[in-house]
Amino acid sequence: MLLEARGLTREFSRRGRTFAAVDHVDLKIDGGDFVAIVGRSGNGKSTLLNMVCGLLRPSSGTVLVDGRNVAELDDRELSLLRNRVVGFVTQSQTLLPNLTVMDNVMLPAVMFPKEPLDIMSSNDDASDDAVAGDGMTAGKTSDTGDMDVVDPDMPDVIAPMRVEPVGQDRSPDGYEKRVMALLADLGIADLAGSHPRELSGGEMRRASIARALMNGPRLLIADEPTGDLDAESTAVVMRLLRSVADGGTAVLMVTHDADALPYADRILAMDAGKLTESA
Ligand SMILES: Nc1ncnc2c1ncn2[C@@H]1O[C@H](COP(=O)(O)OP(=O)(O)OP(=O)(O)O)[C@@H](O)[C@H]1O
Ligand SMILES: [Mg+2]
Repeated sequence: MLLEARGLTREFSRRGRTFAAVDHVDLKIDGGDFVAIVGRSGNGKSTLLNMVCGLLRPSSGTVLVDGRNVAELDDRELSLLRNRVVGFVTQSQTLLPNLTVMDNVMLPAVMFPKEPLDIMSSNDDASDDAVAGDGMTAGKTSDTGDMDVVDPDMPDVIAPMRVEPVGQDRSPDGYEKRVMALLADLGIADLAGSHPRELSGGEMRRASIARALMNGPRLLIADEPTGDLDAESTAVVMRLLRSVADGGTAVLMVTHDADALPYADRILAMDAGKLTESA
């Protein structure tokens, strides 16, 4: 089981009133499963995703990612989990403005260079590159607004391993080839040398998807990945996400887009914080 949430709950207070944005959610996703969540604005979808990837602390309940209780991980372990195991396409734009598309997409691969690629087999030595170096956090924006984010200094790069095998080639050439392959898959290879400010919304979205796939995540979380895409680009992205799932990755997607739903194996509905099987 790649993802297991039990009784997951998050309360917020507003004008003296406390309400559960996510209310006792149970969810299991296996490798190879593609799950879509639909639901009206404000119903708790992003809050759920932020808890799943350890960006937001639950009020109660647990999240297991790849068998690890996210709440029990220290900063280094959580950073590594988010880098090696999880890919996250955030609802809002989080590319780093000073980096080219190439460097944005490559970033997850060059973080934590001394850590093993497969962190499942590595609970040992705390190495000195356990936290992201300076310069990686510049310009970070967060989808979580003023929520109490667990690790606000982590760039939202988040990504991971082995869609098509990432391979052991941890050389700049190997990384560059992989970035170009991902950009080509997403139809934006010609933008590799451009900066985010030169891209359209849909182009930025696709660059973010490439970044989330860079390390070959075993769990891919995507918050409205086709939000600003036309029908043709939506089909390109959804075929790619489908193939990622077919390659063994657990995919959890939030969408408002009816065109995206046929690619999913299961559709769930989020209503006032409760998650139910959709009709
Ligand atoms: N930090 C916060 N403090 C108070 N309330 C919050 C906070 N973050 C989110 N909320 C509230 O929690 C609810 C769920 O928000 P969330 O962002 O999860 O919705 P969503 O389903 O993703 O909506 P959308 O489809 O518009 O993205 C909303 O009512 C929102 O206003
Ligand atoms: Mg949302």
